[in-house]
Amino acid sequence: MAARGGFSNKLGFIAAAAGSAVGLGNIWQFPYVTGQNGGAAFLLVYIGWIFLIGLPVMVGEIAVGRNAQSNPYGAYKKLGGKSWAYVGLFGIICGVMILSFYNVVAGWAFGYFLELSFGNLLNEQDYSGFFSAYVADFRDNLFFSIAFMVITAYIVYRGVQKGIEGTSKVLMPTLFLILIFIIIYGLTLPNAMDGVSFYLLPDFSLINGRTIYTALGQAFFSLSLGMGALITYGSYISRNDNIVNSAILVTIADTAVAFLAGLMIFPLVFSQGQSPAEGPGLVFVALLGVFQTMGPLIGKIVGGGFFLLLCFAALTSTISLLEVPVAFLVDEKKWSRKKAVSAMALLIFLIGLPSMLGFGAVGAFTEFVSYEGGVKSFMDLVQDLFFVISLPLGGFLLSVFISTKWKTAGLSEEISHGNPSYKGSFLEKFFNLMIVYVCPVVLGAMFLLTVLQKFFGVELI
Ligand code: PHE
Repeated sequence: MAARGGFSNKLGFIAAAAGSAVGLGNIWQFPYVTGQNGGAAFLLVYIGWIFLIGLPVMVGEIAVGRNAQSNPYGAYKKLGGKSWAYVGLFGIICGVMILSFYNVVAGWAFGYFLELSFGNLLNEQDYSGFFSAYVADFRDNLFFSIAFMVITAYIVYRGVQKGIEGTSKVLMPTLFLILIFIIIYGLTLPNAMDGVSFYLLPDFSLINGRTIYTALGQAFFSLSLGMGALITYGSYISRNDNIVNSAILVTIADTAVAFLAGLMIFPLVFSQGQSPAEGPGLVFVALLGVFQTMGPLIGKIVGGGFFLLLCFAALTSTISLLEVPVAFLVDEKKWSRKKAVSAMALLIFLIGLPSMLGFGAVGAFTEFVSYEGGVKSFMDLVQDLFFVISLPLGGFLLSVFISTKWKTAGLSEEISHGNPSYKGSFLEKFFNLMIVYVCPVVLGAMFLLTVLQKFFGVELI
C-alpha cells in the first residue's frame, strides 16, 4: 500500500473523486444537453438516473478497487481471473482515448480564458465565426493542449496525495465559489427569471425515449463511471473508510455542480434573448455575447472567471483520466511514476492530434467517416466508440462481474469494512437489487440501442 501511495483520509478521497466527476461534463455539456432536451423535464430524469443507476455502479467500482488494491486491470484479474482482466484493460484503453479528446476541449477552455482575460476576445463581432476559426487554428490549439497536458502530467507525477489530492482540495472549493459568484450576478440581470423557469418548471410532455436515453449517458459520463477511474481511486482509500457515505457525497457534489452550472448559464442566456438549444457552442458562442454586453471590465471579470472555472473543472478530471493508465503501468509493469507519466502523457497527446486537427485544420480528419446518416469527424468517432458506447458497456460488465463472479456477498463484505451496520440495511438491499437486476438490464439495453442506432441505422427511439 505504502509503495502505491494513497489518499491521506476520507476527505482527500472525496475531493479527488468529486474532482474527477466534476468536469467539462458538468459545466460545458450538461447545460447544452439540458437546453436541447427540454430543460427542467430533462433535469428530473437525469437526477433519477444518477441515484438509481449511477450511485450503485459507483459504490461497486470503489469497492472493487479497494478490495483488490489495484488498477482496473489488476483488480479484475485478482478478483475474476484472466478473462475478466480484459474488461479492466478495456476500461484503461477507454480512459486513454477519452483523455485524448478531452484534453483538446480543455485546451479550448484554457485558450478562451487567456484570450478573454488578457486579449481582445470581447471586442469580437461574430462569436460563432470566431469559435469556428479558433478550433480550426492549428498553432493555438497545439500550444494550449500541450500546456494542458503538461500541467496534468505534472500533477499526476507528484503523486496521489501531494498531486491529485492536494490540487483537488484547492480547486474544488474555488470552483464552487466562482460558480456561486456568477450565479448571483446572473440572477440580477433582466429576464434572468425566464431562464430560471425554463430550467426549473418541468413540462412533462417533453419526456420521451430520447430524453431518457440521453440523460443516462450524460449521468454516466458525468460521474466518471464505466472505465475504472473510480476503481483506481478506490484502490487508494483505507479499509476504515465508509464507501457508501463517500460515494453519496461525491454523487451529490457532482449533481450539485451540474445543477448550479445550469442555474448559472440559463439566466445568462435568456437575459440576452439567446437560444438555450444552441448545442456544443453554448458556452463558447452564446455566453460570449452575454459577457460582451456586461461592458469591458465586468465582462472580463465574469467571463474570465467562467473560463477559469471550466479549466479547473477539466483539470481535476484530466488528472483522474491520466492516473488510470499510469496506475496500470506502475502496478503491472513496475515502471516508475515518472516514466509512466511521461510516456502516457506523450502517447495520449499524440493520439489526440487527429481529434484536434478535425475541426477544419485537416479535411481528412474533419470529414473522417460516415455513419448514422452523416459525416463524422475523427473526434466524433472516438467519442462514440470510447465514451458513448463503452461507458454503459463498462457499467454493464461491472454489474455482471459483481453479480456472477465476485457475488453480492463479496461486495457487502467489502462495504461493511468502515460501515459495520451495512449488512442487513435498506441500502444493502437497494444496491444489490440494482446491481444484480436493474443495472445489467438498463445498461445492456442502452449499449445495444446505441450500437444498433449508430452503426446499423436502426431508429429505435
Ligand atoms: N466526469 C468527467 C466530466 O464530467 C469526465 C470523466 C469521465 C472523467 C470518465 C473521468 C472518467 O467531465
